[in-house]
Amino acid sequence: FSLKEYNTFGIEAAAKKFISVTSEKELKEVLRNNKDVFVLGGGSNMLLTQDINKLVVHVNLKGIEITDENEDFVWVRANAGENWHEFVLWCIEHNFGGLENLSLIPGNVGTTPIQNIGAYGKEIKDILFNCEAIAVETLENRTFSNEECRFGYRESIFKNELKNQYIITSVTFKLTKNNHVLNTSYGAIEAELKKMNIAYPTIKDVSDAVIAIRSSKLPNPKELGNSGSFFKNPIIAKKQYEKAVVQFPDMPHYKVSETEVKVPAGWLIEQAGFKGKRFGDAGIHKNQALVLVNYGNATGKEILEVSQNIQKTILERFGIAIEAEVNII
Ligand code: EPU
Repeated sequence: FSLKEYNTFGIEAAAKKFISVTSEKELKEVLRNNKDVFVLGGGSNMLLTQDINKLVVHVNLKGIEITDENEDFVWVRANAGENWHEFVLWCIEHNFGGLENLSLIPGNVGTTPIQNIGAYGKEIKDILFNCEAIAVETLENRTFSNEECRFGYRESIFKNELKNQYIITSVTFKLTKNNHVLNTSYGAIEAELKKMNIAYPTIKDVSDAVIAIRSSKLPNPKELGNSGSFFKNPIIAKKQYEKAVVQFPDMPHYKVSETEVKVPAGWLIEQAGFKGKRFGDAGIHKNQALVLVNYGNATGKEILEVSQNIQKTILERFGIAIEAEVNII
């Protein structure tokens, strides 16, 4: 079974067997009968470098439901297989605020907590109320509160201590019904809203601005295979940054704590001369150096090699180690 249509990189890889489950009952049944499975969500954060010699379970649970509300807030539960961006648009149509900065991120609802997706000054951890999951081993249901997810920058318990142990079946978000708290402080959003001539933005305006920014910088996976940011932005010691900036005075940075700063990996990759480069069908996007792309028939191994070449060059040139954000399979 070809997984080409099931990963946004558009990599040709085969699954030994494939099943798409549409209910929790069906999912449990499959887990009960198959001990070693590979769980697939939206396929937007992985690089397949080999065939998968297992049963691939596609979590295709659909449904959106309001589970609670009061005068100010609404709790909305979305099942794991809902497309993320369609869910964001559904919330905006209903005038539920909180997700607008996270518009147009590829993937499905169920995978958003795993890497705590984030963009333009918002992360999923800012609005996630809880998420429900099934334990792969025992098939028990468990609800994880926001705190229990142990969110960090592109991190959660599901990528660390509990890796591959739970399958997320739904996520509940606590959203605003009125008095929306807009976050437009990110430079690119401010600039876009100004361009749109909007002084008092609605959540829809913010979403439209984010969509415009993303469309201009990030390749649409339907047209050019990719997995968003391939690397995380490295967090380095402030002391190391102070040394590096003597040699590279333009190096941008964001404060993380009193002793640490984050450096944009896209800048490092561009400075190292990789932006827009192409190696066979694998390449580095021309508008955003943090995004690796598949021009058609690249293999996962070829993209992995390009990524390793980038890591090595950045380490040699800047003394900074950059780490993949996507899951290498
Ligand atoms: N930059 C360059 N050259 C490039 C790209 C970036 O010099 O080719 C520098 C610029 O100085 C720019 C800075 O990097 O000001 C930051 O760039 P950008 O605002 O595009 O964001 P990013 O740090 O590259 C992160 C997230 C994105 C998210 C954006 C916007 C990570 C790994 N990536 O990228 O998330 O959309 O911020 O908030 O944190 C994703 O995770 O898949 C993703 C797309």
